[in-house]
Amino acid sequence: MGADEAIGDATFDRLGAIAAFPQVISAPRREPGRPPLPDGASPPPRPAALSAAQSARTLAAAARTLAELQAAIAAFDGCALKTTATNLVFADGTPQARIMLVGEAPGADEDRLGKPFVGVSGQLLDRMLAWIGLDRSKIYITNILPWRPPGNRAPTSAEIALCLPFVERHIELVDPALLVLLGATAARTLLGTTEGIMKLRGRWLSYASPGLSRPVPVLATFHPAYLLRSPSQKRESWRDLLSIKNKIKIGI
Ligand code: URA
Repeated sequence: MGADEAIGDATFDRLGAIAAFPQVISAPRREPGRPPLPDGASPPPRPAALSAAQSARTLAAAARTLAELQAAIAAFDGCALKTTATNLVFADGTPQARIMLVGEAPGADEDRLGKPFVGVSGQLLDRMLAWIGLDRSKIYITNILPWRPPGNRAPTSAEIALCLPFVERHIELVDPALLVLLGATAARTLLGTTEGIMKLRGRWLSYASPGLSRPVPVLATFHPAYLLRSPSQKRESWRDLLSIKNKIKIGI
């Protein structure tokens, strides 16, 4: 996973501990509460356990409200990111707002506070929104991943695929009039493409999902963290922001 935070005063060799008890690993498995099987007999088939992906889909589909979805994600143990994160980062802003933004994944500040976009890139995002008269009372914001990848590494495609049902259901429950995707990960994931953000940004596209009554206009733009690293791209972001402002002005 990569180590970036200490969780104890002393190191503990977990692999060494396993090696010291080989019999635990190699002991024949027996169904708890059942008598041992005669030699050579195979155990009766058990109902297949839900895979993590199936379980994410089932939990997400069953959520009827945002509170239920948040509880479902909190109860989901299929994504290893949960074990290294401090907090679940669900959303911020106003669910009734007609504008929904989706970023990539929480960073260290978001993980600590349990809210998306509260660190430096969030502060830039707030300034960008203010340029077009928006603030968090007028938007709703979430991420593709609800848990911080350790050390802020890029999310893997497996983690994204696993958590996709949650963000898709999130969008259905908010039912926004307009979607803004911040950065390549959000854009590629929700637009189902491998195209780069340079090509995707600035174009109004359409986002459809079975639980939405109609396709939603969607615009991809640069992630604020990228703008912090490449300030010369702010000119393009400004264009995207004006495009969003226009869309709002004409009633979306
Ligand atoms: N970057 C993101 O994509 N999301 C956050 O919440 C914070 C930083």
